[in-house]
Amino acid sequence: MKTKATTALDVPASAAEAPPRNPALPLSTNTHLLNWVDKMARLTRPAAIHWVDGSQEENDALCAQLVSSGTFIRLNQELWPGCYYARSDASDVARVEDRTFVCSLSKDHAGPTNNWEEPFRMRRRLKDLFSGSMQGRTMYVLPFSMGPVESPLSQIGVQLTDSPYVVVNMRIMARIGTKVFEEIDRDRKRVVPCIHSVGMPLPPGQKDVPWPCNPEKYIVHFPETREIWSYGSGYGGNALLGKKCFALRIASNIARDEGWMAEHMLILGVENPQGEKTYLAAAFPSACGKTNLAMLIPPQAFPGWKVWTVGDDIAWIRPDENGVLRAINPEAGFFGVAPGTSLRTNPNAMATISRNTIFTNTAVTLEGGVWWEGMTETPPAECLDWQGNVWTPEIAQRTGAKAAHPNARFTAPARQCPCIDPDWENPRGVPLGAIVFGGRRADTMPLVFQAFNWSSGVYIGATMGSETTAAAGGAVGKVRRDPMAMLPFCGYHMGDYFRHWIKMQRSLSVTPRIFHVNWFRRGPDGNFLWPGFAENMRVLKWIVDRARGNAAGRETPIGWMPRYEELEWNGLEFRREDFESLQAFHRPEWRREVLGHAELFMDLHDHLPPQMIYERELLICRL
Ligand code: GTP
Ligand code: SPV
Ligand code: MN
Repeated sequence: MKTKATTALDVPASAAEAPPRNPALPLSTNTHLLNWVDKMARLTRPAAIHWVDGSQEENDALCAQLVSSGTFIRLNQELWPGCYYARSDASDVARVEDRTFVCSLSKDHAGPTNNWEEPFRMRRRLKDLFSGSMQGRTMYVLPFSMGPVESPLSQIGVQLTDSPYVVVNMRIMARIGTKVFEEIDRDRKRVVPCIHSVGMPLPPGQKDVPWPCNPEKYIVHFPETREIWSYGSGYGGNALLGKKCFALRIASNIARDEGWMAEHMLILGVENPQGEKTYLAAAFPSACGKTNLAMLIPPQAFPGWKVWTVGDDIAWIRPDENGVLRAINPEAGFFGVAPGTSLRTNPNAMATISRNTIFTNTAVTLEGGVWWEGMTETPPAECLDWQGNVWTPEIAQRTGAKAAHPNARFTAPARQCPCIDPDWENPRGVPLGAIVFGGRRADTMPLVFQAFNWSSGVYIGATMGSETTAAAGGAVGKVRRDPMAMLPFCGYHMGDYFRHWIKMQRSLSVTPRIFHVNWFRRGPDGNFLWPGFAENMRVLKWIVDRARGNAAGRETPIGWMPRYEELEWNGLEFRREDFESLQAFHRPEWRREVLGHAELFMDLHDHLPPQMIYERELLICRL
């Protein structure tokens, strides 16, 4: 990292003496943007305005400021170069689904799976909340591009925020700064206005806290006007507005209107020994293994096979002029779950986060490193937990206290990933050969099966279920329907979303094959039946072979399944009878499952496409 001193030495004296940029001066000439910034500043009354250029110097200064305000701890730079650590307020640790609103003009448009409030009333409420909310703070004007700046598939937003923590995280997660202002000034793309406040004004003389936030939170989307208003939280998807709010909730509305798809999916490429690459996108709910699968390293029994990462959380998917579905990752970084990440489970993630990474709510060790449950086999003898309390293995044993919060996360640049795909920034995206759905299910769902066709595949995605995780806040471990892993992220009526999926097939000349996987099935002893992680390659290979027409399989009532002989078992001792219990189809479990589908369909009935009803009938007949 460049320091001020070396910069001064590097450049000619005249330039070195040039005064630093005045961040209050606008970096755009776009009058709509200037007027909006002015209007929002009059509403929120910040002490200063800072136009973000995205430079390294600016970032260094912001990090230094975050260290002095106590938000950041600079980690041991020998162990963790370029890394910082933050502890959030104990009440601000995950997305807040019950405080997330889709305020379309009609309630019917938002549908029963979204919280809705009449937009005029909600705007009045927000005006009250944001009135003076940035007092004593700086308002950052942060331009960002979701997707490579030059890609026709990209979208642009500007986030106004009073959180410098958000600015430095967004700099990793999206393309930000001067080049995006230039794009805005060219006026070729619509800009999505996003306003964010932690909701803790600082009256003169009042000292700030390390993690300002407000007990009252509102994460609000206006789909028709394509606006985002976020109040009260500084954490993850609540505050980094390019991610869930824009790239999923608002983008799903844009995508439906324009004939493409915005999905909660990882994207990866599987290369076989012949050098042929098959890309697939996979939708798993939050904290269900997208990052792990996206960065998988094939076991030794797979010489010549390689997995390449394009994205770990969001995919924007569009048919090209030849009717081939192509996907981009709109993000530039990974905001990944830390607990469970280790050299054993995900060595590529460990390499990615070894530098220039922000850790939030992990534990911090005495030598200035980070730690979390599952990172190493032996925990540190002592560390400070995510709330700053002393934590030791003894204390943990006695009280059950976790060193890291279960939803502790790292923010790391995607380009640092050792297996990042050479085409990950290709403005045209990568062609998709398969789509995979998967949830966290202790029973019912086999390790893998393939849908009969597009429409039965859409049904499988639509009726997906999963045990809830810490990423959502609230109760953990309860099975809920989470269609396409989009329950918290679809910005309009879920029934219309299913219809959009069905309709997409018409613009395709080749339809990707659709699969369902479940790494989380348990045996009678309560243990996972499948070792998972790198061993998931065995399943990936079958999927890729099927997608290329190179694997057989057998037909079952729910879809196509691999026979025991059709999976590669070299290097793993896995008995035929264990595989049979992993793949077992239990009629009574499926009876219950289909009743669960019916409950979802009842909620969505007046917007449900008829194909979903047919598919359910077909399934019942086959059962
Ligand atoms: P978001 O970032 O929240 O959208 O989630 P994600 O899907 O990227 O989650 P991530 O990959 O970080 O999931 C982490 C959790 O999944 C941890 O609890 C892991 O232990 C678990 N996990 C990932 N892969 C496997 C697997 O193959 N088997 C088992 N049993 N657990 C897995
Ligand atoms: C998720 O919850 O699915 C995430 C993390 O990817 S957050 O960005 O906080 O929503
Ligand atoms: Mn996610």
